[in-house]
Order: sequence, then structure tokens, then C-alpha cells
Amino acid sequence: MTTPELVPLTPRAAPATAPADVPSYSPEEIPAKAPSAEGAAEHAAERPFTGGAFNPERARDDVPALHRTVNGHPMVWLDNAATTHKPHQMIEALSAYYAAANSNIHRGAHTMARQATVAYEAGRAAIASFLGAASPDEIVFVRGTTEAINLVAQTWGRDNLGPGDDILVPVLEHHSDLVPWQQIAAERRARVVPVPLTPEGTVDQDAYAALLSYRTQLVVLSHASNVLGTIPPVREMTALAHRYGAAVLVDGAQAVAHFPVDVQELDADFYAFSGHKIFGPTGIGALYAKRARLEAMRPWQGGGNMIQSVEFARTNFAPAPHRFEAGTGHIAGVVGLHAALDWLQGFDRAAVAAYEAELTAYAQRSLQTVPGLQVLGPTAEKVGVLTFTLPGCTPEEAASRLDDDGIALRAGHHCAQPALAHFGLDSAVRASLALYNTQEDIDRLTASLLRLYEQGEAQKPGG
Ligand code: ALA
Repeated sequence: MTTPELVPLTPRAAPATAPADVPSYSPEEIPAKAPSAEGAAEHAAERPFTGGAFNPERARDDVPALHRTVNGHPMVWLDNAATTHKPHQMIEALSAYYAAANSNIHRGAHTMARQATVAYEAGRAAIASFLGAASPDEIVFVRGTTEAINLVAQTWGRDNLGPGDDILVPVLEHHSDLVPWQQIAAERRARVVPVPLTPEGTVDQDAYAALLSYRTQLVVLSHASNVLGTIPPVREMTALAHRYGAAVLVDGAQAVAHFPVDVQELDADFYAFSGHKIFGPTGIGALYAKRARLEAMRPWQGGGNMIQSVEFARTNFAPAPHRFEAGTGHIAGVVGLHAALDWLQGFDRAAVAAYEAELTAYAQRSLQTVPGLQVLGPTAEKVGVLTFTLPGCTPEEAASRLDDDGIALRAGHHCAQPALAHFGLDSAVRASLALYNTQEDIDRLTASLLRLYEQGEAQKPGG
């Protein structure tokens, strides 16, 4: 981490009382750094997977919440598409910031304000580098992906959409990729046009090509689906949209934790992600926008920090990206997100992606052993999101029974009602993986689902 002069707390304060089921950790119990490469190699040799240089135990060792129990069982976290758990490096960076470095930024003429400013801008530079942006000035801090999309809708959208213009949104998308555009389209009398899916659930590329026209101003697209985990051909779809002069906004919320992203290679005009889905804090995220786009956009919120000069007659705004960051930002969140990105990038990301692909394939094979269980969508070209239905059990009942076994996953519409409607559903169970999940987690899930199935069978007449 490049955060300057953060004084670590010694000794680290333990919580006064640990909540039920939550072990309290002394500094000795939390590894100060990942186990040695020799240890990692030893672990890898024992594993049936060939995730190469990556050993999930190295990641697990860093994440305290993964070592708690829930309902008397070791907790299995399969709700990573909703949020991820945090490595101690990120928790300590957050804590050290508040303990020793807390200050407002920019406006203070004192040492700690300068240090906080440096930490904040170091976070921006780290995100720019993480995304392959050309400059830190292309990164706007936001609360998360949803706020990033709303920012683009309320600024770029208000100035660039007009009557008869089209915004193309695949049916698979999260509500965050749809609702902000419905709102601004209603105001600007533009149209939100659904891009249909193939029966399997991928974005129908022929339909997409046919829907693009010189009326298309924007294409909104997830880099990985929060319902199916599928990865559409973003680069190709972006290139096609650009032929019509349309801008492309990519929602990277479900992608960035799983594989390296290069916004310049994608040629995306806008790219958004949330810190909490990539092992960082809640309430912080980033919007990338090409510099020319950002410089042409008007601010959406007014206040302190986003101005150059203010008179009653006229206000001059600060240059981008600062003009989009009114008020005091989530400074600690930026410090924590920076630490989380450093943590993730401390692993060989290609090896992590290979490991997750193997674990996802294993999970798919394993779930298929549960009679009647249906996994939605394609099985290839995806991150580890497995959404499924079970016969004789509502998704909510299934999630609650799995919770009894200490397994956390999500049931419901996953903020993507049109996507579920495509499969004739209004609810489903979703297991979503991260680098710290293991084959054992999947085995626990499958065993619980098999028990659920057997109990259902036993309750049938004559069962
Ligand atoms: N977008 C998050 C999810 O898919 C909340 O669960």
C-alpha cells in the first residue's frame, strides 16, 4: 500500500464483546501476511484442481469472517455476488486510517489534511491502474456501481438523450442498468430498448446488431451477469456500437473481482464497479469515463469540493473528476478499497481466474447430482455464479434451510426481474463464488441440497 504515514494501532484493539458465533481474533491469530510460497505449493499439491500458482487457502487465511460459525456450523459464504468478505489487510487499513490519519481532504492547510489528500489521490491512481485507465483523472469516486450509473444518466444522459433516441439494454441486466435509464428516458422522451436473449440466456448478438442504429445513443451492458455469471463479448459489442456513434457503459460490478479488466482494451466509454464486491468497504466505488467524455459532462450534485470559485452571480466548477465529487467523499473507503485492490493483485490473477473456472465447473457438475435441480443459463464463458431451482421447494425455503447448515446464499429475483422472467421464473437460488471458496464449500452445498431433496421425498405420500 502506498498510503503515507499511517500509524498502525499497537496493540490492535479487540472488540469489547464478540457477537454470538463470531470468534474474536487476537492479532496473533490473524496472519500478518499470506503463508509462504513453499506452504502454498504444498497445499496446491494436495488439491485435485490445477489452479496453478493459486491456492485458495492463502486467500482464506487473510479473511477473518470466513472462519466464523453460523448456526453452529463453519460458515460457507456463497453470496459473493451480493457482497464479498474482507481481508484483514483491508480492515486494518480502514482502522488505521480512522485511528491515526483521519482528516478531511483538499481544504485543510495542515499536515494530516495533506496526508489524507495524498491517500485519497493514491487510491484514485490505484484504481486507474487497476482498470487500465489512461489517467487517474478518468476516475470518479462514487458510492458504488448504482451511483456511477445514475451519475452518467443524470449528466451525460440529460445532455445527450433526446426524443426518439435509443438506449439498448439487454434483458439480462441488473435493475441498476435499466431503471436509471427508464427515469432519464421518460424525462428526455428517449426509448429504452430491450436486447433479447437467446433461449439459453446469453445476449442475442444478431438481435443486438439488428437493433443498433443511428438512433442508438447508448448501450448498457454488464461485463459479467449477476444472474448467470455469463460474460458477453463486450469488446466486440462496443466496437459495433461505436460504428453507430453510440457510447457504451459497462457495469463491471460482477467482473472485477474475477478477472483482470482493461478499459482501454475494451474501448468502453464508461465502466463502473463497487468496492464491496471486490473485498473492499461498502459505500465506495468508482466510475471510469474516457477523459473527453468526462470533460464534456456537467456536474450533477453541487456543493463543496467540486468548485473552483463561487459568487452569487456565477460558479466555476473544478475540473473533472473533482467536479463530480461534491461534499466530503468516503476517504476511509478509498483507503480501504486501495488496500483491497493491493491484496487481490498480490495474487497471480490469471491463476485466480483459472482456479475459479475450475471451481465453477466442479460446482456445476456437483449440483447436477441433485435430482431435479436446474441450473439456469450456459455453463461456459462465465464467472462463478450458479442460479438454480429445486423441485418441491421454493428458493426462499431452500436458502433458509441452507442457512440452518451455515451456508449463505441468495434467493429471490436478484435485482433482475426481466432476466428471471426470461426463464419463466420470479425467484431462484443463487450460489456465487470468489477466489477464497473451495471444493469443500461446494461439497457442503451439494450435501445440504441432497438432504433437502431426500427430506422432500420422504414427506411425499408413500415416501
Ligand atoms: N447486485 C447484488 C446482487 O446481485 C446486490 O446480489
